[in-house]
Amino acid sequence: TPRWLIVPAAGSGRRMGAECPKQYLRIAERPVLAYTLDRLHQAFPEAGLCLCLRPDDNHFTSDWVPFADYRRVPGGEERVDSVINALRAIEPLARDDDLVLVHDVARPCVSIENLMELAHHAARQPNGALLATPVADTIKRDDGAGCVQRTEDRRGLWQAQTPQGFRYALLRRALEAALSADGIGAAMVTDEASAVEALGLTPVLVPGRRDNIKITHPEDLALATHILAAQRP
Ligand code: CTP
Ligand code: MG
Repeated sequence: TPRWLIVPAAGSGRRMGAECPKQYLRIAERPVLAYTLDRLHQAFPEAGLCLCLRPDDNHFTSDWVPFADYRRVPGGEERVDSVINALRAIEPLARDDDLVLVHDVARPCVSIENLMELAHHAARQPNGALLATPVADTIKRDDGAGCVQRTEDRRGLWQAQTPQGFRYALLRRALEAALSADGIGAAMVTDEASAVEALGLTPVLVPGRRDNIKITHPEDLALATHILAAQRP
């Protein structure tokens, strides 16, 4: 079971294009953020939560946070900056081998079972673990001019989800290295695993459910509403 949960929630939801960031859009009167935190709390009630929020966030209230141990951390420019801010904030308390799970606030449909499975694997793998699903669609690469350059070989391709879990020291080293002068750079670090891979290490793929969607575009909200209703026992 993880000692720490980092929940990046400092995005602005540009692709959603709503009047507020997507983590505050309502599903049956509760914001997406509340569903995500509830799932995490059900799975890991004892963990310490770091919630990354925009410094100018005027939608958040702690009423939506079920964790007894929680701290608010200022988000950064990019997702990776938000996660690093959280790792730096817990430095005085964290031990090198503490298990840290990072989970996007925009994935409220993650199942308790997948959360537990991911934590189980991440705790046993030196290079960490992530939830992922095999790519189902045929994937094309464009030539930069609107035509197909080639079709990628779909076999062996996975879509990365969150949560992703790593030991504190490894995750900190990987993310700091990725953003350093000779690192791969923020644009390439769209998840934690990519930074660990850039160290030459191999995180484990844990097959997850396909309904652990990331709310990204407007139609995803209706999908998440349906998934959450269907999952309710
Ligand atoms: N995130 C963050 N800090 C940032 C950018 C993103 O904490 N500077 C968080 C988002 O809140 C989200 C997760 O990272 O939970 C995944 O990012 P994404 O789905 O891209 O969310 P947004 O950045 O909000 O959306 P968009 O890219 O469409 O603006
Ligand atoms: Mg984004």
